[in-house]
Amino acid sequence: MKVALIGCSGMGNVHAQMATNCGLKVSVFADKNIKIAKAIAKQYKGEAITDGMAACERTDIDIVAIATPTPTHLMFVKAAANAGKHIFCEKPFCRTASECKEAIAAAKKAKVKLFVGHVVRYFQEFEAMKTQIAAGKIGEPGFAKLYRGGLLPMGSESWFRDFEKSGGVTFDCMIHDLDWLRYVFGEPERIFCQALMYTKRVPFDYSQVTLRMKSGLIATVIGTWAHPHGFQVKAEICGSGGMIQFNSNEAPMAAMKREVKTGPDWALPSSPVDISPYQLEWEDFIGWIRDTRTPRVTAHDALRAVQMVEAALQSAKTGRPVAL
Ligand SMILES: NC(=O)c1ccc[n+]([C@@H]2O[C@H](COP(=O)([O-])OP(=O)(O)OC[C@H]3O[C@@H](n4cnc5c(N)ncnc54)[C@H](O)[C@@H]3O)[C@@H](O)[C@H]2O)c1
Repeated sequence: MKVALIGCSGMGNVHAQMATNCGLKVSVFADKNIKIAKAIAKQYKGEAITDGMAACERTDIDIVAIATPTPTHLMFVKAAANAGKHIFCEKPFCRTASECKEAIAAAKKAKVKLFVGHVVRYFQEFEAMKTQIAAGKIGEPGFAKLYRGGLLPMGSESWFRDFEKSGGVTFDCMIHDLDWLRYVFGEPERIFCQALMYTKRVPFDYSQVTLRMKSGLIATVIGTWAHPHGFQVKAEICGSGGMIQFNSNEAPMAAMKREVKTGPDWALPSSPVDISPYQLEWEDFIGWIRDTRTPRVTAHDALRAVQMVEAALQSAKTGRPVAL
């Protein structure tokens, strides 16, 4: 199967590599900045173009991968679906829940597979926590505390810093954790949020959410774009019989390991996990296209995640909890 990638910077680079690792040929690289498209097309021996809509319509393509700023996702999902392509779309699915619904309807009408990259479901540490919780290792879960933060990203044309485009840390980043909470603990009941960036541009963002899930579990989620540098993820899940903790600073995803069996005896920077979670999501997506797998995340899950962040931002504006 051949892939057209739209958006060839931050996540575009990752997805070009992951699709290639899965044995796919990424043959079209579309970016409105032709220099960026050309650089990556050269690396993967593909074709560089500027027009993402034209990439969707190519007859020599089976899959369209979308890694552009969030407000552009809907138009590319619709164009790809209308052209009969399967779609890999980065999270957040779309900028609003109503756009997500439009995207789902377009994929359904065209009978194509629409996958949204909620990659935290594929992070091995997070999946291990889910498995242990489900196995009753901490008894009845009562409280979850999640933290995700890093520096305020720029992105092309500083789009992350424009609330209208990115939705700030709550919409763009915390969405990972809100999706994971629903994945593990079921539907949310109500949400309360305090955030710095919820209507306008500020030089950094910090957001705190408290949720009650229908199961009775209470969760606190913190998202920050206020770090001077770096990125950190923490989790603490407390139950009647114990507690699970994870801190990416103590178990960093980028570790040094010595490759003694397969290569020269020197230290290589690599991940302590065998396969990148970004590759695992591609494997799931491809298995779904081939009808050999049911994907871990559905477009409906991605819509619910957007509805959760929309409710959070409504709460931040009104200062009141919002029922979901
Ligand atoms: N899953 C994750 O871990 C993760 C991490 C970061 C970002 N993201 C998401 O991935 C998406 C892309 O983020 P990014 O960090 O790669 O952004 P980015 O700004 O680094 O890259 C976006 C690229 O898209 C290009 N582009 C913009 N509009 C375009 C258009 N209309 N047509 C063609 N090209 C266009 C830009 O020139 C740029 O090269 C966003 O939805 C973001 O929220 C996901």
